[in-house]
Amino acid sequence: MIEKINHIGIAVASLDERIPFYRDVLGLTYAGTDTIPDQKVRVAMFRVGEVTIELLEPTDPESPIAKFIEKNGEGMHHISYHVDNIEAQIADVVGKGVRMIDAVPRPGAHGTRIAFLHPKSSGRVLTEFTEG
Ligand code: CO
Repeated sequence: MIEKINHIGIAVASLDERIPFYRDVLGLTYAGTDTIPDQKVRVAMFRVGEVTIELLEPTDPESPIAKFIEKNGEGMHHISYHVDNIEAQIADVVGKGVRMIDAVPRPGAHGTRIAFLHPKSSGRVLTEFTEG
């Protein structure tokens, strides 16, 4: 079951360049950075109520985020819904005809487990489930 929005992912070329906007201009609570080797990204997190804004910086030209920026420029990348049981959530949407990028959950930031839906199944809004 989808319980709430977990985070919104924003693709940036440089965390150092973008962090000041979110931290100093908007005044959001800066919650530090994390590296997700699996996705070849470095993530800076900001809390807004229960939602996290995640700035995603590629650490490798082969990173999906590097390819996204190459194609679209910096900007909104994905929306992630918090789910209580990610396997059950995947099975539910697959049963409703959705194609998954990740049919099996993979590791996300801070010990979470994540799975992306295929954008063709979600009107080109890259959509992620996060458990944990
Ligand atoms: Co995410």
